[in-house]
Amino acid sequence: MTAPIFVAEALTKVYRSGDVEIWALRGIDLELFEGEMAVFLGPSGSGKSTLLNIMGGLDQASSGKVRFRDTDLTACTENQLTRYRRDHVGFIFQFYNLIPSLTAWENVSLVTEISRNPMNPGEALEMVGLKDRMTHFPAQLSGGEQQRVAIARAIVKRPEVMLCDEPTGALDSKTGVLVLEALSRVNTELGTTMALITHNAAIRQIAHRVFSFHDGRIAEAHVNERRAKASEVVW
Ligand SMILES: Nc1ncnc2c1ncn2[C@@H]1O[C@H](COP(=O)(O)OP(=O)(O)OP(=O)(O)O)[C@@H](O)[C@H]1O
Ligand SMILES: [Mg+2]
Repeated sequence: MTAPIFVAEALTKVYRSGDVEIWALRGIDLELFEGEMAVFLGPSGSGKSTLLNIMGGLDQASSGKVRFRDTDLTACTENQLTRYRRDHVGFIFQFYNLIPSLTAWENVSLVTEISRNPMNPGEALEMVGLKDRMTHFPAQLSGGEQQRVAIARAIVKRPEVMLCDEPTGALDSKTGVLVLEALSRVNTELGTTMALITHNAAIRQIAHRVFSFHDGRIAEAHVNERRAKASEVVW
C-alpha cells in the first residue's frame, strides 16, 4: 500500500432538528490508501452513508477533519466541493439514476462533456462488460446491466476514487456478482481507490480492508490476508 488518499481525524456529524440532536458520526479516524478497496459494514443507522457523503463532498462535517490528498475537505467552500466531486470522485448508489430517454452510450457520454481527461464511452462500457448493450435504453436493460452502465458513467471521467453506497442492494446474487466483478476490475486495472458500503457480509471478502461501523464509530478494522475474486463471493 502507498500513501493515504483520505485521512479522517476525529470526524463528527450531528444532525439537529429542533431540540433533538442525532449523532451520526461520533469521532471517526480513518486512513484509506491509494488503490485500496475498503468495505464498510454495519447496522442501519451506524453512520456509513454519512461518512461516505462527507468523503464525497456531498455533506459537511460538524467537527474534525477529512483530507483528500492535500485538500482539507472540511475547509472547502461549496464551489470547491463541487469541483472536487466533478474532478476526483465517482459515485455509485443503490438506484442507478440513468436518464431513461438516453441509450447506455449516451448516458455515459454525457459525463465526458464536463470531464478533463475522459475515456471513450465505449471503452468504459466495454470495461463493465456491456459492449453489446451500448444502444439499449435503460428500460431494455436488466437491473445489473443498468448498474453497470452507472459504473461506466462513473469511471468514464477517470476518477481517483469511487464511493459506492450499497451498489448491489437492489440486485439478486447472480447479478450482484457481475456488478462486483466490474467494480473489482476498475479497482485492479485502473487503480481506483474504492470505498464500498454493503449490508451483505459476504462482500467483505473482496476488500483489502473491512471497517465495521457501530453507532457512529468504527468498531473494528480487519485486513484480509487474501482477497477473494468477485466470482467467488456467494450470498
Ligand atoms: N439528513 C439527516 N437528518 C437527520 N438525521 C439524519 C440525516 N441523515 C442521516 N441521519 C441520521 O444519522 C444516522 C446515521 O445515518 P446513515 O444514513 O449514515 O446510516 P447508515 O449506516 O448509512 O444506515 P443504512 O445502512 O440504513 O443506510 C441515522 O440515525 C440517521 O437517522
Ligand atoms: Mg446508508
